Amino acid sequence: MILRLADFRFPDAPERLYPENPNGDWVLEIGFGDGRFWAEHGPNEADANYLGVELSGVSLLKAQRRLTAAGLNNAHLTRLPASTLVRAVTGPGSLARIIVNFPDPWPKAGHEEHRLLRAPFFTLAASRLRPGGEVWFTTDHEEYFQFALQEAQKSGCFTATFPEPPAAALRTKYALKWRELGLSVHHVRWRAVQSPNVPVLPVEDSQGDHVPHAIVRLPEDFQLSNFRKTVDRTGEHVVVVLDAYRHASRDQWVLLTHVEERDLTQEALVSVTVREDGSALVRLERFGGPIITAGLKAAVGVVTTFLEERGASVTHRSY
Ligand SMILES: C[S@@+](CC[C@H](N)C(=O)[O-])C[C@H]1O[C@@H](n2cnc3c(N)ncnc32)[C@H](O)[C@@H]1O
Repeated sequence: MILRLADFRFPDAPERLYPENPNGDWVLEIGFGDGRFWAEHGPNEADANYLGVELSGVSLLKAQRRLTAAGLNNAHLTRLPASTLVRAVTGPGSLARIIVNFPDPWPKAGHEEHRLLRAPFFTLAASRLRPGGEVWFTTDHEEYFQFALQEAQKSGCFTATFPEPPAAALRTKYALKWRELGLSVHHVRWRAVQSPNVPVLPVEDSQGDHVPHAIVRLPEDFQLSNFRKTVDRTGEHVVVVLDAYRHASRDQWVLLTHVEERDLTQEALVSVTVREDGSALVRLERFGGPIITAGLKAAVGVVTTFLEERGASVTHRSY
């Protein structure tokens, strides 16, 4: 089943996500692409509960078709950045395994910071794996492979072994691509030997009752025709108000914000709607399924301040 962020709890429990197989091992695959790995490997581990996380929406649909065709029912897919999913959805010690096949290698010098398998990821992974849980990594990229080994060692949370990769890891879309080019494949299994404490990312249910908002009174002649992009770096997050749009037929404006925080970058819409009583509601729109974090609450605050600077008075804040 494809799950949206709002379908999860924070953290979530395998018993809730897989009620028909509550005691199965919980296996996470990061960057599953078109889903070939688990469609082929999953039937070998019929008792495992699978969660796949991907950034690409097209891949999500392809993978869903493959998993359904393979008859794998206890498998869920979601479209999120992996580190956000791991931090927010998987609780401490809940995962049996994390699988990463052919992650983007970011080969250019200076681009290592974009790689998934860096020391902070290993610390996070160790916090979410149960004692003895493993990370399985397969890649064609020799330099990334050595880099990841060093990063895992730096984290101090894992020991490494080098068995043969699972057969299905040699038949993913990218595995076949690299094999056609004659490149060899590297495989490592890291076993968690430490359980560091990495707190669960505080996320609010974006479909729930509480949506960050404020109530303001706008000045009589309020308009946003003099809008200019603004950047706020006052908190732990960066909030950029990129643009503002006027509704065609209502007294409503929508501001497009870009929010950067430690684990996540999001674009979100904050609306300003004039109500019957003359007040205006400033609130985060649910459009796009925003992940309600401290950064998005700050975005509502930044838009509210932005309105205050243009003559609005605030009567209520809830963000
Ligand atoms: C090179 S492809 C490999 C796909 C698949 N594992 C295979 O072997 O065919 C890397 C995949 O990782 C996904 N990806 C990259 N960064 C990600 C992230 N932070 N979270 C989840 N998926 C990610 C990309 O969208 C892409 O589909």
